[in-house]
Amino acid sequence: MRKPIIAANWKMYKTFDEAVEFVEAIKDRIPSENKVDAVVCAPALYLPTLVEIAKETDLAIGAQNMHYEEEGAFTGEISPKQLEAIQVDYVILGHSERREYFNETDEAVNKKVKAALAHGIVPIVCCGETLEEREAGLTEKKVTNQVKKALADLSPEEVQHIVIAYEPIWAIGTGKTATADDANAVCGHIRQGIEELFGKDVAENIRIQYGGSVKPENIEELLSKEHIDGALVGGASLQVESYLKLLEAGA
Ligand code: G3H
Repeated sequence: MRKPIIAANWKMYKTFDEAVEFVEAIKDRIPSENKVDAVVCAPALYLPTLVEIAKETDLAIGAQNMHYEEEGAFTGEISPKQLEAIQVDYVILGHSERREYFNETDEAVNKKVKAALAHGIVPIVCCGETLEEREAGLTEKKVTNQVKKALADLSPEEVQHIVIAYEPIWAIGTGKTATADDANAVCGHIRQGIEELFGKDVAENIRIQYGGSVKPENIEELLSKEHIDGALVGGASLQVESYLKLLEAGA
């Protein structure tokens, strides 16, 4: 059985005080870690403080991006070595907003995945199609290709630690959710692709989240589906009670 993972992606929301208040409010209300993995991916400048507050609780803290180099002259960037040093557990990689607004390529995502694994950070690797691609019947081809490129040159042992997030771009922040059956079908297709590349055991163990307008009202149906092992949540993760409801649905 795969344990659900419910990850909040706060994107560029919340002030420092709001972020601290949120984590203080939820840290002792996380359902048992044995049932669900709870992750908050916060703006980078809050990470050391949030890691400290969440220490010895069942809440894990993640970053929303990182560079693939260990260090160097890359003004404004944050390295996997730096994230490891402050004990960040997860990092979101290849989010569609990074691909669209910051020109992040599949090749860069692949380098970042390798770097995260080398530093003991769990990558949450995002993939997803545009509305045009969906309407043209290209969804499966697009996501399979993104996943294949993101995981290029990795061993089955490495891949089983990764989390995949399937996020149809047209469903992000729009209030439009893929139907649970459609989301499940694409997640199943991703799992099939992973089986072909890395074997049955890895495919059965790897966790695949759905993301795109997930909220307390629709999460239970999404999580009831065979291939959906959690959610990557933007808007509905910004309020304490809403995020806790999502965790309870996963537990
Ligand atoms: O990373 C999270 C996704 O972009 C989903 O955002 O829940 O606001 O649609 P959303």
